[in-house]
Amino acid sequence: PVIYAVTPTYARDVQKAELTRLCNTFRQVPAFHWIVVEDARARTDLVARFLARAGLRHTHLHAATLLRYKRPRSPRGTEQRNAALHWLRANRSRNDSGVVFFADDDNTYSLELFEEMRWTRHVSVWPVGLVGGRRYERPLVENGMVVGWYTGWGAGRLFPIDMAGFAVNLQVVLANPKALFKRHGSKPGMQESDFLRQITRVRDLEPKANNCTRVLVWHTRTEKVKLTNEPDPLLDSVTIEV
Ligand code: UGA
Ligand code: MN
Repeated sequence: PVIYAVTPTYARDVQKAELTRLCNTFRQVPAFHWIVVEDARARTDLVARFLARAGLRHTHLHAATLLRYKRPRSPRGTEQRNAALHWLRANRSRNDSGVVFFADDDNTYSLELFEEMRWTRHVSVWPVGLVGGRRYERPLVENGMVVGWYTGWGAGRLFPIDMAGFAVNLQVVLANPKALFKRHGSKPGMQESDFLRQITRVRDLEPKANNCTRVLVWHTRTEKVKLTNEPDPLLDSVTIEV
């Protein structure tokens, strides 16, 4: 099965550094297809150039987040992940074997994670490090089944899990053509749960990473860079893409 990693990304000073770190990981994963979805009204040259040199199979899409949703506590990456779902439904069929994973551009991914998720039959789950105000969150597993959750907040959610904590078989994405990430009615932190409840049930989840006892992905976040010592741009005579 091919792993389709869906990465929403948006322009900011650290963007190319984030994409570089991700790419260096993803390039080492066999049978991998990176779907990069820019939060922009058009694809940018910066990301296009980056992908051309990335050395991995990729699809470059864009979907702009409406300005009114660009505010604190509003879900991020929603329209971008949905654009990738539309692309998969339009370009992949019953004959394609694959797994879909939502890989935000600032997280940290171990290579082992991909071999765990690759054999997802329906929907698989695993622990995520450094999330929910805890060192980790994880599904609780008994006799190979998810029976509860160790989670830092929002335990009332049906699937209290971070975006980085699950993968979906491509055929499940195709068989549920209306399943999308929701904005209307989706409170902050409800995107994952609202999406998963459209395609699966807790009792059908497949625990990975040794019955969810190993952390193979971390919800790291990159500090916003402070460019307080920027000189007059005219001081440098050539244009530098950073
Ligand atoms: C948490 C979850 O891990 C995310 O999957 C979830 O989308 C997010 O909360 C949420 O609140 O919606 P967090 O680290 O707070 O993550 O979110 P970001 O990493 O800032 O954003 C998630 C993804 O959306 C990233 O790939 C980011 O590049 C992208 N993004 C963010 C955009 O495309 N546009 C934006 O304006 C902001
Ligand atoms: Mn993040």
